[in-house]
Amino acid sequence: MYQYVIRGGNPLAGEVNISGAKNAALAILAAAIMTDDTVVIDNLPNVSDVNVLIDSIEGIGATVKHIDNHTVSICGATISSVVVDYDAIKKMRASYYLLGALLGKFRKAKVALPGGCTIGARPIDLHIKGFRALGATVNIADGCVVAQAAGGLSGSHIYLDKVSVGATINIMMAAALSGGKTIIENAAKEPHVVDVANFLNSMGARIRGAGTDVVRIIGVEKLHGSEYSVIPDQIEAGTYMFAAAATKGDVTVKNVIPKHLEATTAKLLEMGCEIHEFDDAVRVVSKGNLTHTQVTTLPYPGFPTDMQPQMAVLLGIAQGVSTVTESIFENRFKYVGELARMGGNIKVEGNIAIITGVDGYQGARVCVPDLRAGAALVIAGLSADGITVLDDIQYIQRGYEDIVEKFKSLGAEMELVCSDEEIRAFAEAK
Ligand code: EPZ
Repeated sequence: MYQYVIRGGNPLAGEVNISGAKNAALAILAAAIMTDDTVVIDNLPNVSDVNVLIDSIEGIGATVKHIDNHTVSICGATISSVVVDYDAIKKMRASYYLLGALLGKFRKAKVALPGGCTIGARPIDLHIKGFRALGATVNIADGCVVAQAAGGLSGSHIYLDKVSVGATINIMMAAALSGGKTIIENAAKEPHVVDVANFLNSMGARIRGAGTDVVRIIGVEKLHGSEYSVIPDQIEAGTYMFAAAATKGDVTVKNVIPKHLEATTAKLLEMGCEIHEFDDAVRVVSKGNLTHTQVTTLPYPGFPTDMQPQMAVLLGIAQGVSTVTESIFENRFKYVGELARMGGNIKVEGNIAIITGVDGYQGARVCVPDLRAGAALVIAGLSADGITVLDDIQYIQRGYEDIVEKFKSLGAEMELVCSDEEIRAFAEAK
């Protein structure tokens, strides 16, 4: 069983390169099968979620070539099945993007229903509502979503009852190859929604307004090949910026789009950090004590829910009492119990965490409940007094590329280990 072991207390310093955005890459990989031409995608993050989706795409018959660790070519002309099985979905929810892609291209798709995950129920009713509005019949049978539109898909005016990243992207993909005009209202505006629209447009789609809450799509007959580079990961960047703040460090995150990080930098400024923005980099300097503040997670451009656990860890060592309100997912405070082992003082009431700042965390053995909670516990370990051991790190490896090497390049003492002997050796090393 692999674990991370961390000796905390070192102020992080230096520069770190940010990888491609996982949540853009997953949708772009799915959309790549919508043409029979070859598509080359680079700046893919080398993380397990991306590799699982590439396996699913190969599983339905597409031809995939791994050009290097961050670049693949995909040709959808050889696809022989429109069925994405449970094994693929259970490993990675975003396999549901193959639903929109296959329905758009083949007018039919059968994809296992993604169950809930640790952070919430996460239904896909809005995706299904959108596909039905485009004229597809959609049923749930043997645990799968079965969508078909033998007579073709036609444009429609779709209002999303809730802002949903996944539904906006999935409907956008199906509508791209539908007849007529589609309008998606109350659409999600996340940078990865824009990146997917730009990718589809690079294949010949006609999508306008991505990044606003009204997306307009003129359906086209077919899409052509393309070469595309995925945007930087705003959540990975935010994670390193918060780690700098938690360790009283001085870190520059490189290969980022500062605009995508505005909600994150705004909170760091409120807490007393110094922020220097450059064209494609942001420097975070944290020398003094952090100050408490209030945070509510919201759809973009609000404060991202995927930074919520990292935010709580930071506020946990800030002076005074802070609150974090989680408005997107109903079960995203699973890290609170683990942080309590490290001396954290957080009380949860409904969807609000009331955080009383402590002087510092103590190293402890903790268990990672989900991807972003895992990143938050790494930050706690980096700022803690003593040694922290993290179990169930496979969650972290789903979305963070080379996290150990990247933190070590900033001066952290952190190792990937797989035995108690190695933990002991690490502890005795100093
Ligand atoms: C995407 O999930 C991201 N995942 C999540 O990141 C992120 O937390 C989330 O967007 C919000 O930003 C990927 O991109 C692969 P939603 P998604 O549809 O698309 C409800 C990470 O850590 N809803 O925007 O599933 C839903 O339950 C992951 O990288 C419905 O009710 O999120 C939630 O409460 C975790 N019905 C809210 O809307 C639907 O049909 C927003 O969900 C769809 C969603």
